[in-house]
Amino acid sequence: MPKYRIALMPGDGIGNDVMDAAQIVLDKIALDAEYVHADIGWEFWRTEGDALPQRTVDLLKGCTCALFGAITSKPKDEAEAELIPELRGKGLVYRSPIVRLRQLFDLYVNLRPCKAYPGNPLNYRDDIDLVIFRENTEGLYSGVEFHPVPQAVREVLEAHSPAMARFADVAEEDLAISCRIFTRRGCRRIVRRAFEYAQAHGYSTVTVVEKPNVIRETSGLMVREARRIAADFPDVELWETNVDAQVMWLVKNPQDYSVLVTSNMFGDIVSDLAAQLVGGLGFASSGNIGDDFAIFEPTHGSAPKYAGQYKVNPMAMLLAVKLMLDWLGEREKAQALESAIAGVIAEGKVRTYDMGGSSTTLEVAQAVAERL
Ligand code: IPM
Ligand code: MG
Repeated sequence: MPKYRIALMPGDGIGNDVMDAAQIVLDKIALDAEYVHADIGWEFWRTEGDALPQRTVDLLKGCTCALFGAITSKPKDEAEAELIPELRGKGLVYRSPIVRLRQLFDLYVNLRPCKAYPGNPLNYRDDIDLVIFRENTEGLYSGVEFHPVPQAVREVLEAHSPAMARFADVAEEDLAISCRIFTRRGCRRIVRRAFEYAQAHGYSTVTVVEKPNVIRETSGLMVREARRIAADFPDVELWETNVDAQVMWLVKNPQDYSVLVTSNMFGDIVSDLAAQLVGGLGFASSGNIGDDFAIFEPTHGSAPKYAGQYKVNPMAMLLAVKLMLDWLGEREKAQALESAIAGVIAEGKVRTYDMGGSSTTLEVAQAVAERL
């Protein structure tokens, strides 16, 4: 029996293009693994009313980890309108399957390295090496939302928060509420993983990026827990910043920062900004990591207009494969893959259009595989 069972979930649009690229590299790496295909994406929403069918969840339970491509997401009403007629009007609600997977499998770390590889013409600076730890299961993406807000919920809020008084006159259909839910456990574990990573990889600082001066309770909890955890890591300094100032400083002095830890939505936003500093989403990979399962993905979306054209940069996906190898403990293979990626970037011969070249997605993957 192979050592690993790895699910491949290409999903929608260019998810398929970059998954093909990943397979070229995986073939060359020759892990002791069995690869299984899993259904996920818009097609399954349209035809089955669920973008994440139960059979996929069951299959993932039997896997070591998974590689995911990309998913098309649309707002509530558009999603409903695209269902096959027999599924319409049944109250089916579309929720992003990747967000659901993160919550379902308690993949509480979203690890997003943003490193400038030498020779990448898209680098903002060449000395950037940031690693973002985004909390991945709670915060504003908890899914506890109301529109309209039920009277009972409103009454409880009014009874317990004087700040609600300002909204007392707002009509029912004119009020929407999305809850930003933080738990002490959620804050502790993401901060601890960030510190452990900093220590293991020789980074001297961890910056907790929040907004405790305004969002006192949730951001406040994160920062207070960060201070407690920092005490266990005397070699790593804790820096505290507000998210608005942090994005400005990331544009001004990105080389000053190393490990950043933050909540779900701030991490979503800050990681896109950080990705752009090192070449854009074509270079941004993510590890959704829990205690015993993980899903690796490029951070980019499904880019429907490029689907099937094998035009997009597969580097983000190949870097996601590298993160997967790290997580599996296949350190040598991970390092070899990173060197091969860095080599192709530095050589500058095989490049997709975003880097000013005309190579295809698969040609880039082949060039990386040849260096392995
Ligand atoms: C990301 C994406 C997802 C997110 C979307 C597609 C739900 O933006 O991985 O950063 O918001 O987490
Ligand atoms: Mg995002």
